[in-house]
Amino acid sequence: MAVTIVLTNQKGGVGKTTTAAALTAGLVRRGKRVLAIDLDPQGNLGFSLGLDIDNSLTVYDMLRNRTPVNEVIHTTEDGYHVIPSNILLSEAEIEFQSENRVMLLRESLDQVRNDYDFIIIDTPPSLNILTLNGYAASDYLIIPMASEILSLVGLIQLQETVSEVKASVNPRLQVLGILLTKYNRRTRLAADVLEMAGAVAEQTKTALFEAKIRSGVAAAEAPAHGSDIFSYAPRSNPAKDYSMFVDEVMGRIGSGQ
Ligand SMILES: Nc1ncnc2c1ncn2[C@@H]1O[C@H](COP(=O)(O)OP(=O)(O)OP(=O)(O)O)[C@@H](O)[C@H]1O
Ligand SMILES: [Mg+2]
Repeated sequence: MAVTIVLTNQKGGVGKTTTAAALTAGLVRRGKRVLAIDLDPQGNLGFSLGLDIDNSLTVYDMLRNRTPVNEVIHTTEDGYHVIPSNILLSEAEIEFQSENRVMLLRESLDQVRNDYDFIIIDTPPSLNILTLNGYAASDYLIIPMASEILSLVGLIQLQETVSEVKASVNPRLQVLGILLTKYNRRTRLAADVLEMAGAVAEQTKTALFEAKIRSGVAAAEAPAHGSDIFSYAPRSNPAKDYSMFVDEVMGRIGSGQ
């Protein structure tokens, strides 16, 4: 049975997609069967994993038209299994009006949960119906936060949404942790950032990941080369940090955290 993890933060540009791609690639490198799903109409996750996006079927067809999940899973040249998104998804809020509209993703995924060890879901920078579908379908949330824009207010709002989802459609949902991204430990600010992140985590009863993802140009370059960070720049700081992060994710899940 797949463990399902959703990357979420309603703030934009904090590293959700970069982390979803790295987590997918890192788990595959550790011999796991992984399905990556893009719920963001911007469609960056497929691109980051090297998928050529054409007119093929996407997560939109699966959610809107009930196209079976097996028909919307694409395999990239590097062997990643991806359900891509497209811009049509931006109409979801208006178009998805059925009574069970929060459960669309979860119901579709039931068909493939036994085929994978992990399902990794990337979400848009908002708490909308797509994000809620991601929460309803998942076991764990991971919250990437960019070191320069830590937001306690945003996190409290996010946690209220998580509580509502737990109380209604998905009691299993748990926050696995907060991941600091774009971290630069040489700056004088780093100590302040760490302290503040620790305080944010404590106030929201969440754990910070030990791994912190340092800033590095390789993280931004890899997607443009259709390559994951571990293949593109294995010795780069982001690759080393993401490797530690992937181990930590497996450890936390393994220990029943
Ligand atoms: N560790 C890093 N070092 C340098 N650049 C990074 C790092 N992580 C992410 N970036 C860059 O920051 C930008 C935002 O990252 P990303 O797209 O992963 O964020 P996001 O949260 O998915 O954004 P959105 O909310 O728009 O979907 C991208 O250009 C990405 O390449
Ligand atoms: Mg993104």
